[in-house]
Amino acid sequence: MEVKLRLLRYNPETDSEAHFEDYTIEASPMDRLLDCLHTVKWEQDGSLALRRSCAHGICGSDAMVVNGVNRLACKVLVKDLSQPITVEPIRGLPLIKDFIVDMEPFFAGYRAVKPWLIVDEHEHEPARERIQSREERERYDDTTKCILCAACTTSCPIYWADGEYVGPAAIVNAHRFIFDSRDTGSRERLEILSGKGGVFKCRTVFNCTDACPRGIKVTLAIQEVKQAALYGSQ
Ligand code: FES
Repeated sequence: MEVKLRLLRYNPETDSEAHFEDYTIEASPMDRLLDCLHTVKWEQDGSLALRRSCAHGICGSDAMVVNGVNRLACKVLVKDLSQPITVEPIRGLPLIKDFIVDMEPFFAGYRAVKPWLIVDEHEHEPARERIQSREERERYDDTTKCILCAACTTSCPIYWADGEYVGPAAIVNAHRFIFDSRDTGSRERLEILSGKGGVFKCRTVFNCTDACPRGIKVTLAIQEVKQAALYGSQ
């Protein structure tokens, strides 16, 4: 089938601002958008800049705005997209070139919530593994699925407007540890998330939940962290 693409292009060396360019390629209906972008890059314009690695929805490299909504280019099929397919870089992060943005502000928000297991010092060298029941593991199962693609955070209008907000992905990753029965750092994280750039910036828009390619209930996780900040995590 013939596929028409409208790609937002930006080269900092030659362009004063981003602009759309149109491309027409041949593709199979079962091809993914990532395949189409590869065809443009490999057969029509080698200067097209994009990130991708696994091509299977695991690494989180290729989040883009596809026909107005955040998607992974490797997880959408051409047959499911209306044409022309409009592709833009994710929003709210500094644009570097074409579909490549500076992810550092996103990862700064992620690091700020201490996304690792914190244990009391006297438990530093436990005599045996830290036992967890099936129910305790289930409590945070959904938020273990995050691949840090930034699709949720960069779909959030609060994040676009407020440089202090850590964003949905950071809160999802805080949730993963706050509700882990082995972790003892919940109070520390909840104090951070009760601060100026924290969880109460969320206005429950639900864009994050719609954008997540892993199907994480992002807004629910944020609500649970809000409740934990107010009433405790147990
Ligand atoms: S290329 Fe890895 S998630 Fe799409």
